[in-house]
Formats: sequence, structure tokens, C-alpha cells
Amino acid sequence: PPLPRIPAHVVALDDYADLSREHMSEGARAWLDGGAADELTLKDNRAAFARLKLKPRVLQGMHGGHTELSLFGQRFAYPVLLAPVAHQRAVHPDGELATLLGASAMGAGMVVSTQASVALEDLAQAAHAPLWFQLYMLADRARTSALLARVEAAGYQALVLTVDAPVTGVRNREQRSGFVMPDTATAVNLDAGAPAHIARPGESPLFGSPLVAAAPGWRELEWLRAQTRLPILLKGILNPDDAAQALGCGVDGIIVSNHGGRVLDGVPASIDALPGVVRAVDGAVPILLDGGIRRGTDVLKALALGAQAVLVGRPYMHALASAGPAGVAHVLHMLRTELEMAMILSGCRTLADIDQRILWQ
Ligand code: FNR
Repeated sequence: PPLPRIPAHVVALDDYADLSREHMSEGARAWLDGGAADELTLKDNRAAFARLKLKPRVLQGMHGGHTELSLFGQRFAYPVLLAPVAHQRAVHPDGELATLLGASAMGAGMVVSTQASVALEDLAQAAHAPLWFQLYMLADRARTSALLARVEAAGYQALVLTVDAPVTGVRNREQRSGFVMPDTATAVNLDAGAPAHIARPGESPLFGSPLVAAAPGWRELEWLRAQTRLPILLKGILNPDDAAQALGCGVDGIIVSNHGGRVLDGVPASIDALPGVVRAVDGAVPILLDGGIRRGTDVLKALALGAQAVLVGRPYMHALASAGPAGVAHVLHMLRTELEMAMILSGCRTLADIDQRILWQ
């Protein structure tokens, strides 16, 4: 097949959102772009970045400037990783493998979803950049252990335990579209598991289900901590009390996230929740953030408020759908270039120079 062309007018992440209309079905777009319920949180993730204003600084001299950082002993050339997104073969025939090629070309870290549509071992074999695995606690510990053993054997370098989605959320945009996940994009790393629970009349629809009855608690986190020496990041933290409790369980990092506004509608934008979590963690472990990052200036704002790095979700999926690995690499290249530009214009030579003083308050 001919290589996909990246049209010359694609110069920003949002341009891929537009371009992807030509490459994805309506239903797949509703799945990818939609959020929970009325999408208040989804919209606020971006609006909150727009509300924050930058404070420029001139004549600072930029000799020796760079964007390097290290996390858990791993070196990153710039503080942007690819967030875990499930079922990527729903938008590109090679799915996560194509994403990985783009990330590796750009030296960017990638977090592979538990619900990836490519075998986790095949991805690890092809990686040339830090590769982390996003874990969901499965309904029984034996299944979680078996998955963890595969992840460790394959050489993944960190675990991202997602804790904000024990239930899927009210995803009305997706429901209205009638989207059905194609068979080619199933979660190949999971065995079939329990069949969906259908409540009988009068029965509680969710509290009555085995899935919710088996929802993990803090004890499962302690159990996981004892199972592995890999760094564990807890993803989906907004509440500072949860961050504090997580530290007590020995987590190595926190990802402030509302799951891209896809689970509980009405929670704050992740960037608005960041300062509270930063205060609670008080430098004990690195904090990452995702949700609504579309510009290098958004990355800069997140770092100014105390994140060490950020992750992006939907933008690279739009690029994957539109242009495969080259599109994913292009998204990372644009974000990196924009971040460097914003750093130079706000007088920051390295990531260590970025703090609250670059925000207009
Ligand atoms: C996600 N996200 C997600 N998170 C996770 O921990 N495991 C997963 O399998 C998925 N799957 C998933 C699918 C789709 C279609 C989307 C859009 C998102 C959430 C993701 O990791 C991240 O938190 C958000 O996408 C970040 O917000 P932005 O960058 O999309 O605004």
C-alpha cells in the first residue's frame, strides 16, 4: 500500500484531529474523541489550560539549553510520553506496533494499555525507547499475576496502575453512535474472562455485578507492591488524600489524570487538580499529568505547576489513524518543538528552570 502522506497544512496537533475525519468511521471517532456523559470534564481539560497565562522573560541567554530528564533511572530527551490507549487496531491495521515505531523514532516513552490489540511481547521486542505497561487489576489475583509475569519477562520498565476506571463511565457519545469495537482490535493480552453481567429486573445494575463486587481496594495495591520490583505509578489521581495514601503503599509515581474526561463527568480538569496533589506529595515521588495537552505551552504550564512530565492520548491516535508511525512521530516532534520554543520565550534553559514564576498570576 502507498505510504500515507502528511499534508503540508498539518502543522499542529489539532490539525490531525481534523484530518482523522477522513480516515476513521463516525463510530470510531465517537469512541476516541468522546468523554463521559455531558463531557463537562472533557471540555474543561482544555479550557483550564487556556485560562492559565504565561509570563515571558527576555534576554536570558539559552546556551546549553535542553529538555532532558530522568525518571526511575530512565533517560528521556523531553518530558512527553504516549498515554495508554486501548484497542489501537481500531484506527490503524498495525495498531500499537505502528504507534511504537513512531515513539521509538522520536525516543519517546510509551505506555502500553492492558487492552492493547497487539501482543505485549511483540511490542517489547520492537521498542527502542522506554516502554511502560499500564495495568488494570484483574478480577482475580492469579490472572493479574500471570499478566505481570509476562510484562516483566518481556522487559517493560515500569507499571502504570490505572485506578480511576473500575467501571467504564457513562459514555453517551459512543453509545449514540452505535460503535462496536471491531474483532480485529480485541484486547489480545487478556483471556476472555467473565461474561458481561446482565442485571435481572429489580436487581442493582452495578452493585449487583461480580465486576464491581471484585473492585480492587488499597490492599490490592499493597499486594501488587509486594509482587514486583518494577516502579509503580498510580494513574487517575485527582484527590490529594488518595495521593497521600498511595505514598503510604510505596508507589513510585503519581499520574494526575481524569482518564481524558471519559469516566466520571464533573471532576475538575487534571491541570486544576495538579497543585493539590503536588502539595500532598511534597516532592516524595515524581508526578506526571495527562488530559488536554495539545500544545507545547500546555506542557510548559503543567511543568510550571509541578509535573515532571506529561502524557498525550487522543492526538497521537488521530495521527496514527491519519498517517501511521510517521504521524505519531510528527505529533511528538511538534510538541517537542513547541515546548522548546515556549521555554526559550519564557526564559527557561532547562526543565529545572520551569516553575510557578513563569505563570502570570
Ligand atoms: C484512554 N485512556 C486509557 N487509560 C488507561 O489507563 N488505559 C486504557 O486502556 C485507556 N484507554 C483509552 C482509550 C481511549 C480511546 C482514550 C481516548 C483514552 C486514557 C488515556 O490514557 C489518557 O488518560 C487520556 O487520553 C489523556 O487525555 P487526552 O490527552 O486524550 O486529552
